Amino acid sequence: MFRNREGRPFGATLPCYDSDHPLCYLSKAYAIIGLSTQGGGKITRIISGKADSEDTSIETSLRPRRLDDFIGQSKVKENLKIALAAARGRGEPLDHILLYGPPGLGKTTLANIIAAEMGVNIRITSGPAIERTGDLAAILTNLQKHDILFIDEIHRLNRAIEEILYPSMEDFALDIIIGKGPGARSLRLNLPPFTLIGATTRIALLSAPLRDRFGAVYRFDFYDHDSLETIIRRSARILQIEAEDAGLKEIACRARGTPRVANRLLKRVRDYAQVMAGGTINQEVAVEALSRLEIDPIGLDEIDHKLLRTVIEKFGGGPVGLETIAACISEEADTIMDVYEPYLLQLGFLVRTPRGRMVTEAAYQHLGLPYNREKPPQASLW
Ligand SMILES: Nc1ncnc2c1ncn2[C@@H]1O[C@H](COP(=O)(O)OP(=O)(O)O)[C@@H](O)[C@H]1O
Ligand SMILES: [Mg+2]
Repeated sequence: MFRNREGRPFGATLPCYDSDHPLCYLSKAYAIIGLSTQGGGKITRIISGKADSEDTSIETSLRPRRLDDFIGQSKVKENLKIALAAARGRGEPLDHILLYGPPGLGKTTLANIIAAEMGVNIRITSGPAIERTGDLAAILTNLQKHDILFIDEIHRLNRAIEEILYPSMEDFALDIIIGKGPGARSLRLNLPPFTLIGATTRIALLSAPLRDRFGAVYRFDFYDHDSLETIIRRSARILQIEAEDAGLKEIACRARGTPRVANRLLKRVRDYAQVMAGGTINQEVAVEALSRLEIDPIGLDEIDHKLLRTVIEKFGGGPVGLETIAACISEEADTIMDVYEPYLLQLGFLVRTPRGRMVTEAAYQHLGLPYNREKPPQASLW
């Protein structure tokens, strides 16, 4: 018998669905309690915007390829359309672009679309993958004219590598040092004009000189319910899932404004519909499946509830430091900042203050807790 994090038993009575995945039993069992397995048996949450190994296999087929199929983010799209048309008209590469926002909102997708719209190649790498300056030099010297270099998680580039990036972004030149000691010489190699697209979930961690070298900075917002519904309607069509509008709407409302979560929930609800409800996703099926995943009507799961309740019950609603919250709910502070917090801030359930996080009245209402925070009067200084 397995037990979940709360110590409740699970697994013993769960059906094993027909799936060719060797971990089918485990992953479906985790799915039913709102978790999903990741490579190496690590457990991640189903409502996390971060990609897991299961996502990557199917995401390729669901990724829109053209700007017109990219739903929502209208501000970003409008600005980008103008930039694309202007660059194409002049026959020049696009300005360097920085995309930032919480995980799962479409940054990688948009980078690929930009390459397709410009009709150029895209080289994809990520901050932590570039370990040595030589790695970056090799990537840069292999670029062709007007190519796009996409660096995901660019905030994780180390500083020595950033230094090499500056002249290549500004002057399309690569400065390398040959030899050591007094005989060392500096050599400047010319690079073909290219476009760097950087993506990050944490713009604040980017150094100012790097941020300044991007010609355009686009911020991704959470998606509204209508856009998410359109996105999963398209996904349902591609994956040949039978779904009624009301069912899709229900999933869209609980997807935390994040397309990756919406697609993931769609797949989970499909599993449930297939095994328990004859295959079609209608509202009733969606509600039942999602409540089994412990996702509430606005997309909060068990851990969001735990986070809010901890701040309310243990710290009188805050303010309380992020590290303290993290320790109380046994999560990493980074995960809280990347995954849980952005959506809670967006809902207005949590606010950041200089002294820490505070839970708002709206959160009390959502949890059905009485809100009567009579703040003790500030102790006078004199
Ligand atoms: N605007 C959008 N329209 C349709 N699908 C989207 C959109 N944005 C994201 N997606 C879907 O969400 C998934 C995750 O997007 P991705 O670009 O990998 O997010 P990020 O790089 O920001 O973490 C993609 O597979 C894609 O199917
Ligand atoms: Mg990405």
